Amino acid sequence: MKKNLVLSPLIIKGKHSLPVIQGGMGVRISTWQCARAVALTGGIGILSGTAIHIIIARLLQLGDPGGHLKRAFDAFPFQETAKKMYKKYFISQGKREDEKFRDPEMFSLSPSRELIELTVLANFAEVFLAKEGHDGIIGINYMEKIQMPHIYSFFGAMLAGVDIVTAGAGIPIQFPSILEDLAEGKAVEYRIDVTGAAPREFSMQFDPKDFFSPHAIPKLSKPDFFPIISSTVLAKTLAKKLLGKIKGFVIEKSLAGGHNAPPRDKKSFNERGEPIYGPKDEVDLSVIKTLGIPYILAGGYSNPEKANQAFRDGAVAIQAGTIFQYSEDSGLDPRLRSIAKSMAFQGKLDVLTSGVSPTGYPFKIALIPGTLSDPAVYVNRPRICDLGFLREPYKKEDGSVGYRCSAEPINAYVKKGGKEEDCQDKVCLCTCLMANASLSQRRAEGYIEPPLVTSGDDTSFIHSLMSGPDDSYNVEDAIMFILGKIN
Ligand SMILES: Cc1cc2nc3c(=O)[nH]c(=O)nc-3n(C[C@H](O)[C@H](O)[C@H](O)COP(=O)(O)O)c2cc1C
Repeated sequence: MKKNLVLSPLIIKGKHSLPVIQGGMGVRISTWQCARAVALTGGIGILSGTAIHIIIARLLQLGDPGGHLKRAFDAFPFQETAKKMYKKYFISQGKREDEKFRDPEMFSLSPSRELIELTVLANFAEVFLAKEGHDGIIGINYMEKIQMPHIYSFFGAMLAGVDIVTAGAGIPIQFPSILEDLAEGKAVEYRIDVTGAAPREFSMQFDPKDFFSPHAIPKLSKPDFFPIISSTVLAKTLAKKLLGKIKGFVIEKSLAGGHNAPPRDKKSFNERGEPIYGPKDEVDLSVIKTLGIPYILAGGYSNPEKANQAFRDGAVAIQAGTIFQYSEDSGLDPRLRSIAKSMAFQGKLDVLTSGVSPTGYPFKIALIPGTLSDPAVYVNRPRICDLGFLREPYKKEDGSVGYRCSAEPINAYVKKGGKEEDCQDKVCLCTCLMANASLSQRRAEGYIEPPLVTSGDDTSFIHSLMSGPDDSYNVEDAIMFILGKIN
């Protein structure tokens, strides 16, 4: 094995980048507007592909503010699909405030043709808008664990020329060959984890030519692939199994916002119920260096001292999330952003590494009154599962596949073979993350789905970027600060 290689600077598809990546932030936090602003500043902007078809369906029902989706749909190579979806979801004056959003069907192992087309179109639209009018670098992030939309999502993002795909929350070992096959015009298959089934028993297939006119499918280019990892062992496994197919690792530490990798010791918790990370959870950079794959460090790197330390430790770039989420350019609901950054400025933003996520991974939550982190709001929320992104497919006795989520109504979950104790404290991330992005669902009797903000632990950058609790900053300010160009 090669030892301590000198690693090359970050060049994606022949384009040089500043060593700052704005990490993918779902749901709709790293919007096309945010990622585009990062790319225009010279960094790398990563979109969130999570639930993007639902977001687009809801934005159309709000009247397509700014007409951006219309512009993107007009650029879609398959106009029949674009027109059909626009007609189905667009409401010219926007839906009435007291009306419910009409959502597409939930994903399953056999999605309808319409859901597949919408997923392709939505991923295309988000990437198209982020890349429009410049030559900067745009990527898209997917959570591996949300497996059922992947093959359609990749195709849509590639149709719009996405430069990079990043993926964590699971082991994205199937990604590179699928991206490659799609670029070569081949049909693809994704193996789906189904609880109670044999490892390769279930899969989903997709041949774009069955859905879209083969003559209208352009030549696609394979995006560069960056798995997100938090363990040395996983880095070594991926480097071996995906030889030559990884452009770089994103090594994410447990300070990062969103989901975190669980610690090795899954049984110990501190007095706040948070998992305890120890030295064994640290990725060993001396081992990573021997793999000959460039790496990016993420999780608490949003200041010039930490970023410089990362570069000295051999990172080609740092990836940041929280600093971009609180910037004016993110998709976080402006009211929530204003509360969160003002609390952070006053040193009052408490971030807890919680067990609320149905994925089973630790999930960082900001303790903000009036959101689902507030026990009074949590107990009053009726459990409903109607977006279903985190549903776990399981094999039923008759051999067919059922779907369950530990945040759905408890008796429904238990009837499907789930354990009651797994439902404890679980939050429906699908609905609250939509609310974070100003797309709350309305329920009967005027109940509005509440938000739940996720945030990294380190918000110390706030004092360098804001002069008071009501001040604000943009993506460019954030990048310049990280690179030590302002203080
Ligand atoms: C609001 C928010 C949402 C996030 N969502 C995702 C996600 O969907 N997928 C992902 O791979 N990482 C996600 N992350 C992690 C970021 O991409 C990034 O790696 C991390 O925020 C870096 O650490 P920092 O928050 O200390 O800057 C999220 C982070 C935040 C703050």
